[in-house]
Amino acid sequence: MANWHEKQVIYQIYPKSFKDTNDDGIGDLQGVIQKIPYLKALGITTIWLNPIYVSPQVDNGYDVADYYQIDQSVGSMADVEALIQALHQNGMHLLLDFVMNHTSDQHPWFQAALKDPQSKYHDYYLWAQAKPGQLPNNWGSFFGGSVWEPTPKAPNHYYFHLFDRHMPDLNWQNPAVRQAMIEIAKFWLNKGVDGLRLDAFIHIDKANFKQFAVGESQKPVIDDTFYAHLSRVQPYLREFCHALRAIKPDVFILGEAASASPELLIDYSRPQNDECDAVITFRSIVDRLDQLDSRLPAEFQPKALDVEGMRQRLTTIETKLADVSLPVLYWSNHDMARVASRYASTDYYWQSLKCLAAMLYLQRGLPIIYYGEELGLKNSYLKQLSDFHDQTVLPFYQQALAVGYSADQTMKMLNQTHKMAARGMMPWDSDQPYQGFSKHEPWLNGQQTTPVSVAAETSDPTSLLVFYRQLFQLKQTPLFTAGDEVIQPTANGVFQYTRQLAGQLATVTCNLSDTVQLVTNNDGGQPSLTVGAVDQHAGQLNYSPWSMTVTINDKKEF
Ligand code: GLC
Ligand code: CA
Repeated sequence: MANWHEKQVIYQIYPKSFKDTNDDGIGDLQGVIQKIPYLKALGITTIWLNPIYVSPQVDNGYDVADYYQIDQSVGSMADVEALIQALHQNGMHLLLDFVMNHTSDQHPWFQAALKDPQSKYHDYYLWAQAKPGQLPNNWGSFFGGSVWEPTPKAPNHYYFHLFDRHMPDLNWQNPAVRQAMIEIAKFWLNKGVDGLRLDAFIHIDKANFKQFAVGESQKPVIDDTFYAHLSRVQPYLREFCHALRAIKPDVFILGEAASASPELLIDYSRPQNDECDAVITFRSIVDRLDQLDSRLPAEFQPKALDVEGMRQRLTTIETKLADVSLPVLYWSNHDMARVASRYASTDYYWQSLKCLAAMLYLQRGLPIIYYGEELGLKNSYLKQLSDFHDQTVLPFYQQALAVGYSADQTMKMLNQTHKMAARGMMPWDSDQPYQGFSKHEPWLNGQQTTPVSVAAETSDPTSLLVFYRQLFQLKQTPLFTAGDEVIQPTANGVFQYTRQLAGQLATVTCNLSDTVQLVTNNDGGQPSLTVGAVDQHAGQLNYSPWSMTVTINDKKEF
């Protein structure tokens, strides 16, 4: 059952940071339209936009106040229609982010619910009563503190928010909520949108609020047990996806399931289940945890890539999904630090980024490129704690200072690891003010830390940008879209896999380390893409630090 989405190379755009065309410092939809030729030349076939709906922007658009209108900061309905048309004219597709777990507290449903507990909208949200001076339970919010926020004017009455307190969770047990979300999704599909990225869908079912998390009494504990992957998630998801496929059979449904295990990836993407077509898990990237400072929480400490751990993880995912769905392949997104800040080698910067890209994107699966990644863009540098817009940052900062880190060291750690620093402006041209992103000071108060730009890399045949183009050309060949995959058990520091289709065999070998590695490659193929120096040495291949080869044997000699 071949479907269009199985051959896509997806590009994720954080609309506010991509290209500003009216010089207000905020990227916009016209900016995306303007850059379609750039994306097309890169080999991109589908764009995923982070939320563009009307929003107070507490969480940069994930707090939606009106699902049927475009936030004026990024454009208008006419702009999104023009974008859809322009993409389709270029043979490209559009995915919108679909925020289904919660709304903004400014959404008319929540406002009506607050105003009148008898209103039908009250049951669109989740509420609980608590004893005076206590919270309904000790569940923790992903954005810090409790999931419970007192309802203004009603003492001891609380509403539930898994994310920011301005983002109340919807009550998916209410059939009217489920229907309303289906209607919204249909509206966008009828406009010509090709697919949806289902935001945080794994959280739409919650446990019994009376159940406390086991922990230190009242202190909020983040515990997925009570609000992730619960038993009603799949029936609700199925009902939703089924309704969308009824009006658009080839809709592409890409689920975001941050904490999904390989087993859950199967459940959520098995075609017979009529749920997602593909699922993003945050558990495909594996970090080394053995070099951390045990006096500080792990979250904001820089970590090295665990090549061996990732080999195991990807082997499991690739194996389990082999006859189920396409794994989603990505190095970065708006919820994590940029790959160049996380894993690039200091001594072999450009080579390391080329090797990391080849190591992942030629595998069986759907690549998602986070805007700027193709340039080697690092996290921006945010100068003030308040620029992170994250209440968990201050406690980390205080703790780090208390154990002896300087303010500067702590800010560096935060900037290297925090998601907000990954949302910086796309650098189009270093000779222009604000790197050609805008003539106005950008919305995010961050400084570019790497002197990279589209203009410079376009004219340099050895650039990372040009390498990404070559990689995606290769990715679009049947061997890499449809071939089987086997991940090879190689030495630590090396990642090697083969792809096979009919009479063709490709071997991708990447030295992901700062040292020379000896590797066996018996496929007898011809090199079709190379990074760094690889020499023959006593019957083995000698891979210099951060070097890589893709060899293809189409003479059936294997
Ligand atoms: C998803 C988004 C994240 C957002 C959250 C709440 O995890 O990727 O950016 O904050 O959902 O909508
Ligand atoms: Ca703008």
